[in-house]
Amino acid sequence: MKILAIETSCDETGLSILEVKESKNKLSFKVLATTLASQIKIHREYGGVYPMLAKREHIKHLPILLEKVLKKSKLGGSVAKSTWRPNRQVNTVSPVDLIVVTSGPGLEPALWTGIVFAKELSQKWNVPLIPVNHMEGHILSPFGANAGDFEIPLTENKDSSISFPILSLLVSGGHTELVLIKDWGKYKVIGQTVDDAAGEAYDKVARMLDLPYPGGPEISKLAEARRKFLLFENIAQADEPSIAIRQQANMSVFKKQKLPIVIKLPRPMIYSKDFNFSFSGLKTAVLYLIRDLKIANPNVMENQNTKNDIALEFENAVVETLVHKTKKAILKYKTKNLIIAGGVSANKHLKNEINKMLKKLDFETQVFFPKKELTGDNSIMIAMAGFLKYTKNKTKIYKNIKAEGNLKLK
Ligand code: KG4
Ligand code: ZN
Repeated sequence: MKILAIETSCDETGLSILEVKESKNKLSFKVLATTLASQIKIHREYGGVYPMLAKREHIKHLPILLEKVLKKSKLGGSVAKSTWRPNRQVNTVSPVDLIVVTSGPGLEPALWTGIVFAKELSQKWNVPLIPVNHMEGHILSPFGANAGDFEIPLTENKDSSISFPILSLLVSGGHTELVLIKDWGKYKVIGQTVDDAAGEAYDKVARMLDLPYPGGPEISKLAEARRKFLLFENIAQADEPSIAIRQQANMSVFKKQKLPIVIKLPRPMIYSKDFNFSFSGLKTAVLYLIRDLKIANPNVMENQNTKNDIALEFENAVVETLVHKTKKAILKYKTKNLIIAGGVSANKHLKNEINKMLKKLDFETQVFFPKKELTGDNSIMIAMAGFLKYTKNKTKIYKNIKAEGNLKLK
C-alpha cells in the first residue's frame, strides 16, 4: 500500500509518499518521494522558533509540497491541484491508501496546520487518517532512510538484529527523555528533563555566544575546534586554565576578585538517583560565567578563544550528563539495544562518548543512530510510526484527531 506522511510539529514542513509492506518479521518501506521545507532562515532572525510564524509557513508550504511529492512519486500532480484548491472540481481517485499525520507533541498552531490539511485530504480522497506521536517517529528514525528501501525489524523475528526491551535516549529541541521500549508501540518514559531540553540549552547558550539559531551545530563546531587544539597540544583539559583566561593581561584581577581561573560548568543532576535531567541551571551557569569573565575584561566575548572554551565546557557538561544517565539505565534494565535519536543525536561528541561508554560495559549493547538527514524532524519517521500503528490495529477509525502539544509516549 501507499501512504502519505505529514509532519508540521515545529519548524520543518515535511511530506513523503512511501510504498509499504508488512511481513511476519519486518515492515518494509520504499521511499517514492520525500520533501522537507525548512524554516530555519526565517526563525533565525528571532533567535528561536515563533509558533505563529511557523504556522504561516506550514500553511504556505503544505499544498506546494503535496504537489511536489505526487509529481515525484509519479502519482499525478494534477490530482493534488484539483484536490486542495478550493472551489475546484474534486478528483476523488486517491493516489494513496492511507494518510498519517503528526498530532503531537509540538507547537499546537503548527500541529493544527498539518492535521487540518490531512483531514481535508482524507475526506476528499476517502482514505483513513492516523495520528502519529512525533517522538515515536524519532524512536524509529534509526531504521529509516530518506531514499530507497529500508525496514523495521519486528519482535517475533528470532534472527532479528534487535531484542526488547530497547532503551532510547531522545534528545531534541523540545525533549530530553529516556524511554524503555518494551515492544514497538509499548513505551515507558523512565526519565526526562525537569526543565529545559538539551537542544533548547544548546540554542539558548548559542544566543549568549552570539551564534545563530539553531545553536547545536554552531556550538559543536567551536567545541570541536577547541577539542582538537587540546589534543594537538596534548593538554588534559581539566587542569588547563582556558586560553581565554590565560590571555587576560592581568591574572591578579582574577585572583583578587576570586574569578574562575578554569572554565568549569556544573553537571546538573548527574548523581541524582533517578533518570531525570536538568539543563536550565547549566544555561544560567554559562550566563554567570560570561558575567564574571567580563569583570576581568569587558571585551572578553570578542575573543574567539573565549567562545571556543565555553562551547567546549558546555558541550562536555551536556554530553557527560546524557551519557552517565544512559549508562545507568542500561545497567538497571540490562538492555542489549540502544537507540539515540532527535536533533541532538547528530552531535559528534555525543556519538563518540556513547560508543566509548558501551565499549566499557561487560555485556554487549548495540547502538542505533539515525542517518544525518533523519536526526532532525522529517516525515519519513512519521510514515514509519504511522504504518507501525496501522499494522497494530487496521480497522480502527480515528475520530476527532486534534493537536496535542504535550502528547506523551505510552
Ligand atoms: O529533533 P529536532 O530537529 O526538533 C525538535 O523536535 O525539537 O531537534 C532540534 C534541536 C535544536 O535544538 C538543535 O540546536 C539541536 O537539535 N541540534 C544539535 C545538533 N544539531 C541539531 N545539538 C547539538 N549538536 C548538533 N550537532
Ligand atoms: Zn523532533
